[in-house]
Amino acid sequence: MFTINYEDRIKKRRTFAIISHPDAGKTTVTEKMLFLGKVIHTTGTVKSKGSSKYAKSDWMEIERRRGISVTTSVMQFSYKNYIINLLDTPGHEDFSEDTYRILTAVDFCIMIIDAAKGVEERTKKLIEVTRLRKTPIITFINKLDRYSKNSISLLDEIESDLNIKCIPINWPIGSGTSFYGIYSLKDKKIYKYLKKKKNKQNHDILFNYPKILNLFSLKKIYEENYAEEIYEELQLIENVYDKYDSIEFLKSISTPVFFGTALGNFGIDYMLDYVVKYAPSPNSRKTNVRIVDPKESFVTGFIFKIQANMDLRHRDRVAFMRVVSGTFFKGMKLKNVRTGKIFVLSDAVYFIAGERRIVNVAYPGDVIGIHNHGTINIGDTFTEGENFSFIEIPLFAPEIFKKILLKNPLKKKQLVKGLIELSEEGTIQVFKKIDNNTIFLGAIGLLQFEVVLDRLKIEYKVDIVYNDINISLIRWIKCKSKKKLKDFMNKYSQYLALDFKKNLVYIATSSANLKITSDLYKKYISFSSTINF
Ligand code: G4P
Repeated sequence: MFTINYEDRIKKRRTFAIISHPDAGKTTVTEKMLFLGKVIHTTGTVKSKGSSKYAKSDWMEIERRRGISVTTSVMQFSYKNYIINLLDTPGHEDFSEDTYRILTAVDFCIMIIDAAKGVEERTKKLIEVTRLRKTPIITFINKLDRYSKNSISLLDEIESDLNIKCIPINWPIGSGTSFYGIYSLKDKKIYKYLKKKKNKQNHDILFNYPKILNLFSLKKIYEENYAEEIYEELQLIENVYDKYDSIEFLKSISTPVFFGTALGNFGIDYMLDYVVKYAPSPNSRKTNVRIVDPKESFVTGFIFKIQANMDLRHRDRVAFMRVVSGTFFKGMKLKNVRTGKIFVLSDAVYFIAGERRIVNVAYPGDVIGIHNHGTINIGDTFTEGENFSFIEIPLFAPEIFKKILLKNPLKKKQLVKGLIELSEEGTIQVFKKIDNNTIFLGAIGLLQFEVVLDRLKIEYKVDIVYNDINISLIRWIKCKSKKKLKDFMNKYSQYLALDFKKNLVYIATSSANLKITSDLYKKYISFSSTINF
């Protein structure tokens, strides 16, 4: 019987996330990928606002109520003999710290840019997060079937706003109603956009019109003047942009750029072919002791997300573990290094388009869900016995803050318990000011506050309300000199707080305020926007 060896399994895996500003087309691209992976058989099923099918991952009541996908779900499918693990990130206005953290659990990202809008705010933030691990980025410029900005200007914008060099792999011919297709700089062919009706399965068969580029063949397709214009532009592109360099891509110095239209089913398979051929397979990860290579035979992994209440009747929690090394088998015993507790993993689950299945076997790069009742935290490392912890699973400095008001003061104990548990899960961050013990919460997305309010009420029977608080940002403080730290703490006590792990943070009322203080103390004190979980 033909068997695939372990190293080949690793080489044939791709674990990534899609990042974009809301509405750039992340859901549509995801849907087309699932279609290409034969997970879904018609397009238009992943999302349909207001319907129960909107997102198959809408586990929490709040998600159902609001009709949006809050949780980060993981989808596995195969494409051309490769296993694709697509970690979906909430892209709605109400996104959360999970969105950031998931980017530290992938090997590369696909960035989607709306061709009419260019680089938008959310994309900038998400790219900043990918910088932490120098995660390689592939760019897909979407919606070429609509009015689009000039392609060269778009690439200039990406280069200057995101500080990454663009290497076009293909180039659009026209846009909007005159979007004719793409020219592949690699194989020098034009792929024609067929403009068939949406949601027709056969629309995914794209590349049935290849022509070798030369002016003569262009003139056969386009009017004389237009053919000359296209020919000149394509010649220019060939000369202006650097050639693709895999090392620069892997170091995130450059990004390969693709053009297309997700809605028109055009260009996604071209990019996915590239993903399986050139994007990185599961990579090594740092621990506090040594680097773990995926090819090592012992199973290791780390938890990057906790999803609570996936089954409301059982109040269970599922911890998402990225397998870093080894072959995981159903029933395996793994140790949570933080607590020393051994878990017999006979009911670990994985996800196919939101549906859960029991994991029989998993390899590096795969993500498995482990059921637990609060015994696993974000950042936990699982091994077959070795004592080390994966690092680089950060907490991110929150961007929105609220003060908590307890409706019934007798419920203080339950409130504290709830807040500790919710912060360990990564649902919210809790801080206590050191001068007057005020408790305040911090989050990346507004919805996190609503989730906390709901969960405190349902799970801990505590009613709270939020009040505004004049905090613009926080930074974790580190100082090598005890004396300097003491001086600083004396001077700035009203601007200091402790997080739920008792790390010291500086509270700033504005970014200008942070700049003044950090400039004053930068010799001795570091002000960091992330800290290890
Ligand atoms: P998101 O997940 O990044 O938020 O974006 P999503 O895929 O939901 O796309 C946002 C809107 O843009 C959707 O339209 C979608 O149909 C449209 N869209 C995505 N890709 C393309 C494309 O290549 N060309 C064009 N013309 N439109 C595209 P909507 O009207 O907001 O939602 P819906 O009613 O179609 O679901």
